[in-house]
Amino acid sequence: MSKLLTGLKPTGEFTLGNYIGAIVPLVKLQDDYDEVFLFVADLHALTVYQDPKELRARIRKFIAMYIACGVDPKKTTIYLQSENPYIPAISWLLECTTQFGEASRMIQFKEKSKQNANFSVGLLTYPILMAADILYCDTNDVPVGIDQKQHVELARDVAERFNHKYGETFVLPQPYIAKEGTKIKDLKDPTKKMSKSEENPQGVITMFDTREVITKKIMRATTDSEMDVHFDEDKKPGISNLLNIASALSGQKIAEIEQQFVGKNYGELKQYVAEIVATKLEAIQARYETLLNGKELDAILDQGIQKSIQLAKAKYEQMKEKMGVVR
Ligand code: TYM
Repeated sequence: MSKLLTGLKPTGEFTLGNYIGAIVPLVKLQDDYDEVFLFVADLHALTVYQDPKELRARIRKFIAMYIACGVDPKKTTIYLQSENPYIPAISWLLECTTQFGEASRMIQFKEKSKQNANFSVGLLTYPILMAADILYCDTNDVPVGIDQKQHVELARDVAERFNHKYGETFVLPQPYIAKEGTKIKDLKDPTKKMSKSEENPQGVITMFDTREVITKKIMRATTDSEMDVHFDEDKKPGISNLLNIASALSGQKIAEIEQQFVGKNYGELKQYVAEIVATKLEAIQARYETLLNGKELDAILDQGIQKSIQLAKAKYEQMKEKMGVVR
């Protein structure tokens, strides 16, 4: 049986980077897997302080946005991570089979712990909770952007070690990285990833931006001093980023877009990309508004969490049994 799972943290805004890195592949692959899971990683959000009121509002926004983006609750189990008490319980059992060195070598931990001297312990154990998210339901593939690849690989290592120590328990997961748009870059600084916590909002497109804002941001995107539109992530990070965005949203191959722009200037390419992004997001936003104000969301989450709890409980009990924490 093939399974696919991914999650997003409800922090900051839902960005175009999140959408292209995690949601677009999931929507495309919904029919190709026997089971698909998508959740809001609200427990992961807590590793850094969140205003409770804002967090609560954002959780709902994210769920509505998932469905507006084309995630079909009939095909995909949608749930809220914190409503499944077995996930943190599994995470603890996995923490005890993860090495400190392994966790502290994670790039995200190294970067984020540098930014704030009073970082939480949760920042270190973050990828282990992520391993619990992934491993409890025997997921095979995990669509993520490149920034999360290392965490999925850690989940795989931890699963392998557990299987080796205690006997076959987990399916070994792997990151699923789509070719285009694996890492959407900041429009102003295309050497950095487009990130929701970015200080310069001009470089980040959120899923809630209007056509006007999107167009402005894309027209002002940083490019280079050359003239020709072609893909080269090292020499032309800005242009390559725009090509990645257009390709991920339109389904066109990058080579086709390059061909289309032979002899044309960067301004024309930007117009083209802005049109693709704005048209896509306008359609999503219209569905989003209807969903956010309707009753459907709670029914979807109630159903999703039931299934998630059932699977996690079974896995937790199996792990406990193997580890000898039973009466
Ligand atoms: P988060 O919330 O930071 O990001 C959600 C997803 O969006 C991808 N992403 C990007 N992809 C391409 N370009 C970008 N600029 C960009 N920015 C973000 C991320 O790679 C991710 O796939 N720890 C995870 C949430 C999580 C999770 C899980 C994911 C918790 N448990 C289990 C998969 C499986 C996170 O913080 O993602």
